[in-house]
Order: sequence, then structure tokens, then C-alpha cells
Amino acid sequence: MREELLSPEHTVVDEEIDDELDSLGLRPTSLRDFIGQPELKEHLKIILGAAKKRNQPSDHLLFAGPPGLGKTTLANIVAREMGVGMHTTSGPALERAGDLAAILTKLEPGDVLFIDEIHRLSRAVEEVLYPAMEDFQLDIVLGKGPAARSVRLTIAPFTLVGATTRTGLITGPLRDRFGLVARMDYYNSDDLNEIVMRSADIFEIEIDEQGSKEIAVRSRGTPRIANRLLRRVRDYAEMKADGVIDEKTAMNGLQLFGVDARGLDKVDRAILSAICVRFSGGPVGLSTLAISVSEPTETVEDVYEPFLIQQGFIMRTQRGRVAMDASWEHLGLTPPQTKSLSSPNLLSELND
Ligand SMILES: Nc1ncnc2c1ncn2[C@@H]1O[C@H](COP(=O)(O)OP(=O)(O)O)[C@@H](O)[C@H]1O
Ligand SMILES: [Mg+2]
Repeated sequence: MREELLSPEHTVVDEEIDDELDSLGLRPTSLRDFIGQPELKEHLKIILGAAKKRNQPSDHLLFAGPPGLGKTTLANIVAREMGVGMHTTSGPALERAGDLAAILTKLEPGDVLFIDEIHRLSRAVEEVLYPAMEDFQLDIVLGKGPAARSVRLTIAPFTLVGATTRTGLITGPLRDRFGLVARMDYYNSDDLNEIVMRSADIFEIEIDEQGSKEIAVRSRGTPRIANRLLRRVRDYAEMKADGVIDEKTAMNGLQLFGVDARGLDKVDRAILSAICVRFSGGPVGLSTLAISVSEPTETVEDVYEPFLIQQGFIMRTQRGRVAMDASWEHLGLTPPQTKSLSSPNLLSELND
């Protein structure tokens, strides 16, 4: 494995590895194989089941949540479960209205159109999407200038599946046109344990229950990370421990790769340390924080921050990011008394 593939920061590279691994059967292909997210699975079972019964395409679906939680996987599952064709594109790839029109006119009845990073669609493209989603109509402008005229085409009924890391950036009118807006949560360690065991089985990696649990609890609640850590620990086990992963091998391997007991990597810790030490506990603005850890603002906001907030390490306030007591403790520091952020009164004051 190339060295850069081991770096925790490269989520784009990660997705490429995912594709490689998924071709080997790692990506679940049915709702039955999709581990965790029980509520969402139940909703999908009902929506897809009912649509199939009526012999109609399902309602449009929007999956929102941090990277690596299974949005792309679910989009593919929807097409499979419905037994229809799947077309994949993304917000940034659809530059002009014509790009979307070209795809829409190619759809067969019932097909799934998956638009990843749908919050990055341009306004012009979004305008084309509205009548397509609502009435399966496409307005195209033919010609230019005064001679231009608009033609309305009927397209095949289809299901739009959107994925986004930011529900906040989806415009109201677009959001309202989805029949289901699903916020995906971080996975609990039991589900992640099952995911690690399943992946180990597929890759024929020898691992015991304790080893798998150790990887699961350090996976930041994220299946993609669970699979990535499993691969790293396997490498470590092959070099140092006869290829078998038990608790000790997992702990040593993860430590070697800079993943700590709470699953934080070196960027996570750099963020905590910047807020606690450099900015005396905060509040510090997002862009200042991003610069001080040398990461793009978007990466800090989409990839790192949601988990740190969910785990109670940091908090978002109107004046910026603030460290909670847990951050100081995790870094082995004593929180300054005046900044102690465990009292509920203080918290609500900060939120005001
Ligand atoms: N519920 C799940 N059960 C098993 N594996 C999963 C699950 N969700 C995601 N994965 C695995 O994690 C990886 C990332 O999932 P993906 O759908 O690409 O995430 P997203 O699109 O939300 O970033 C995939 O390779 C897939 O194999
Ligand atoms: Mg994806």
C-alpha cells in the first residue's frame, strides 16, 4: 500500500480506495446487508415496498450526514431494491443546465438518478431540477437571443436520490421536493463491530471479537473509517503479529497509526489543542481554527468538527468554537476554572 494512502487526512483518496474495495464486494448491496441505521432502514423498506407494489418509482430521497456513513451505499441499494437502472453524478459535475438535461432525457422509467454533493448544484441547474422532480417535465431553451424559445419535454418518471454533508446548505425549495429527508447518525460501536467483522470475513482476515471491538470503538462512528482502520491493523498484524488481529495487536497497531483510545487522529487532536492552548479555550472562529491546523475550512467543518461536537469535546457558539472540559481532559490538561464549560447555565448563555 502506498504511504499516502495511510494518511488519515486523505478522504478523497479514501473514496477511491472504497471504490476499489467495493468492487471486491465490501459495499453492502441490499437493505438486509446494510448494518445499523435501523430507523432509516425501516422507513426505506416501507417507502420502497409501497412504491414497488404500486408499480411506481419511489419518492425522491435525500440522505444527509458526515462523510463515510453510507449515503452512496444506500443510493445504490435503492436502485437495486427497486430493480432499476442507476445513474450517478454530483453537484460540482453538473456545470450547466444542459448537463443535467442530457442526463434526464436518458433516464428509463423508474430509474434512480443519484446526485452526490447536491448542496453544490448551481442555481441554474437547480431550476431545471424542480419541474423534473415535480412533474417529470424538462424546460429546454432552444436557440439564442430574441429567437430563443422554450420547449417543454416530458421525461420518464424517475427517483432522485440526493446526498449531502450539509443539510444547512440545501435550499428550501429543493429540500421540500424530497419525500424523505434522512439525517444519518454516527454508528454505535455494536454496529461498527458488526461492520468490522463482516469486512474481515470478506477479506479473510483473522480477527477475534476483542480485536474487532477495539477497532470499532476507535472508528469515529463511521463505517468508512472502521474499514480503513481494519486494513491498517491488518498490515500491522502481518508485519508484527503473524497476521492475526486480537485486542493487543489492534491497540498497538492503532496507536502506531496515531489513532487514540477515543478514535481521534492527529488532526482531531491538533484542533482540540489549538482551541484549548492557542486560543485559551475559545471562542475561535472556524476559519482561524482551520488555518491554525492547516486544513481547508470545509474539511474541518464537514469531516472533523461534527464528531468532536457529537462527542462533547467542542461546542459551536455564535462567537466561534469553544472547548469543553472533555477536551482539556483528553489532552491531559486542567481546564481553567473560569472557562469551565460543564455547567448548563453557562452553556445556555453561550448559545444565546
Ligand atoms: N451500514 C453499512 N454497513 C456496512 N458497510 C457500510 C455501511 N455504510 C457504509 N459502509 C461502507 O463504508 C464505506 C463508505 O460508505 P459510503 O456509502 O461511500 O459513504 P458516504 O457516501 O456517506 O460518504 C463503503 O465502502 C461501504 O462499504
Ligand atoms: Mg459518498
